[in-house]
Amino acid sequence: DGKFTVSLIEGDGIGPEISQSVKDIFSAANAPVKWEPISVDPVFKDGKQAIPDEAIDSITRNYVALKGPLATPIGKGHVSLNLTLRRTFNLFANVRPCKSIQGYKTPYDDVDTVLIRENTEGEYSGIEHVVVDGVVQSIKLITREASERVLRFAFQYAQDIGKPKVRAVHKATIMKMSDGLFLSCARKISKEFPNVEFDAELLDNACLKVVSDPTPYNDKVLVMPNLYGDILSDMCAGLIGGLGLTPSGNIGDECSIFEAVHGSAPDIAGKGLANPTALLLSSIMMLQHMGLTEHASKIQAAIFKTLAEGKTITGDLGGKAKTHEYADAVIKNL
Ligand code: IPM
Ligand code: MN
Repeated sequence: DGKFTVSLIEGDGIGPEISQSVKDIFSAANAPVKWEPISVDPVFKDGKQAIPDEAIDSITRNYVALKGPLATPIGKGHVSLNLTLRRTFNLFANVRPCKSIQGYKTPYDDVDTVLIRENTEGEYSGIEHVVVDGVVQSIKLITREASERVLRFAFQYAQDIGKPKVRAVHKATIMKMSDGLFLSCARKISKEFPNVEFDAELLDNACLKVVSDPTPYNDKVLVMPNLYGDILSDMCAGLIGGLGLTPSGNIGDECSIFEAVHGSAPDIAGKGLANPTALLLSSIMMLQHMGLTEHASKIQAAIFKTLAEGKTITGDLGGKAKTHEYADAVIKNL
């Protein structure tokens, strides 16, 4: 039927209502996407948490998935499902654009940067053990292979989107071996991209500078190890209004999962108060990734127009509009 099938993980809490907005807006925009809803409620294989086979088959078959928020239990015995998904499909690059939204006022009005986070190892390797009582080790695993892979991706991405600079963010002054390796890989890969400028910045300095004045970061793609990317991407999201407004894409060689980074907000779930913007913008990244650029631009323009009008700010962002009223306004603006 000329449509592309996409696996849809609606997620927990507000997940189903914001997914509904995406579905409504996509069908109103005639986006050639057919949704295949899947559950990723974990199963246990050999005592280990795993993604159910049907979900793995669906994502493998469709190459792309859109994912709402999944609650992460804190504590022992539970591995974050978000991480299990990234690991299962080897989604090695986590792309997190951060762009000011006209109509949503923050102290910064001209942010437009992109963070790329290594997504498979580093502090997230999950290798931890008790040495003796009261002494633990958590291993930050850095490999040349994963570093070069995400760095090459970042340079290619910068070139493709027309940002002329890649900056590696690191703490190689202290993490001499792990970040040292990441940094030396960055220098090496930069040679493959003579048209993209390369430099590096210490993580703490980057934090200080970006909150003081984000504009020098607008011509750059920032690339960094996993945990730094987790933290710095939230910080940059804070500059433009929070995680409710920022998209993300987990990119792999075999498939990719686009997701809203915010939580499942159980306190407002089912009340029609949630703002679907983050999931919507993620779905636009997904359309761009699929080569459906015209539909992506059309839906994106309608979202930005709606937000700029400022009349349909949802409850979670301090406004009065309901989730479906916001979606209806986007549809009118298509
Ligand atoms: C994110 C989230 C996840 C992470 C959590 C939910 C495991 O904070 O996508 O940034 O730490 O990577
Ligand atoms: Mn995070």
